[in-house]
Amino acid sequence: MANVIIVGTQWGDEGKGKIVDLLTEYADVVVRFQGGNNAGHTLVVDGTTYILHLIPSGIVRPDKICAIGNGVVLDPQSFMEEIEYAKKLGLPISGSNLRLSSLTNMIMPYHKALDHAREARKGKAKIGTTGRGIGPAYEDRVARRGIRVGDLLNRELFENKLRDNLSYHNFMLENYYSAPTFNFESVRDDFLKLGEALAPYIGDVSLLLDEAMKAGKSVLYEGAQGTMLDVDHGTYPFVTSSSTIAGSACIGSGVGPTTIDYVVGIVKAYTTRVGSGPFPTELSDSVGEHLAKQGHEFGATTGRARRCGWFDAVVVRHAVRTNGVSGMALTKLDVLDGLETLKICTAYTRNGKTIENMPADAAILESCVPVYEEMPGWTESTVGATDFTQLPKAAQNYIRRLEELVGVKAAIISTGPDRVQTEILENPFA
Ligand code: IMP
Repeated sequence: MANVIIVGTQWGDEGKGKIVDLLTEYADVVVRFQGGNNAGHTLVVDGTTYILHLIPSGIVRPDKICAIGNGVVLDPQSFMEEIEYAKKLGLPISGSNLRLSSLTNMIMPYHKALDHAREARKGKAKIGTTGRGIGPAYEDRVARRGIRVGDLLNRELFENKLRDNLSYHNFMLENYYSAPTFNFESVRDDFLKLGEALAPYIGDVSLLLDEAMKAGKSVLYEGAQGTMLDVDHGTYPFVTSSSTIAGSACIGSGVGPTTIDYVVGIVKAYTTRVGSGPFPTELSDSVGEHLAKQGHEFGATTGRARRCGWFDAVVVRHAVRTNGVSGMALTKLDVLDGLETLKICTAYTRNGKTIENMPADAAILESCVPVYEEMPGWTESTVGATDFTQLPKAAQNYIRRLEELVGVKAAIISTGPDRVQTEILENPFA
């Protein structure tokens, strides 16, 4: 038995979905603990592609229990639609294999309206959010006025909370943002109906995990987004509104830190980012185009083109430290096939000074210039390679150099989107 957390070490989209799916084989329960349907996890199993936003990636294995913890913000409408989508793809889903914490805060329609209104008002300074209402929903959670999934099971409580929230948010929408407001009866009726659909899934996730662990079962915690989007440790304010780092798994699901055995850091062999904010190794040349094209770098949630750049060891070192990464899963190595020379950012310079650790201030990061080290690339295809020793020598050297620079070993190497296109060098559950 082992309990493992999987987190992204860059700006999200590192390929967590695939690795979670792969390692789910060794787990009994898979838990989402933060974020919401801003995430997009793509998995390919036997040629079928599944794109999931909210439901844990473990759902594609019918014998596993999936849980959504209290740290997530849940859009009930999207949740029900995703269940329907997954059922259509042949996945059996019911309240016995998908559990939802009653403590999970809900994304309400006014949160989405506020998200859009704020971004519009910010103009050029916008964050580039996914527009799913994530930020405003998390704000209500810490403001202690959030409406939680369990509230739907108590009509009077739900109505009172909704009335209070609407009186506050409608005022802001109308008077501050000059945006349309929401009608109490209409939102109430929609949500009470959704409450009936959600009811079979609602329960106590903390208790479920405790019982599972006491019964000797293994739990996998599936992170969303990445370390550089963490509300504290990322490129604030160009971040998401949740804690994306490993510590968040405990808070967002109701388990203690002493139960965790291993943290997998998902590391893409290069770097990408969606939305605004500093990105020192960003490329706007033909190499950037190669990465975007070969890596299919378009957002699974919004379809937006991702910004692409060279591997940044300062970013991943920062992630290794803030997450306590035990081993990395290196993904999308094959996307580098055919590049004559590879560059790795080992540090930054700014005003003549060398910077080896992530600056706290995004404005400082914006003015940092990468220090690059060059390595020879390879012309051979690594697509689907499952044996490190069979990789081109230059690819082996690249991986070994990344390990040195970030301070952890590659536990898993992924060379394509399919489950089978992977080599596990160290099994985190072993
Ligand atoms: P929000 O999470 O929708 O508020 O967006 C805040 C920032 O996080 C924006 O830059 C988004 O593009 C980014 N973001 C949110 N979710 C993801 C994700 O799953 N992958 C990559 N970027 C994301």
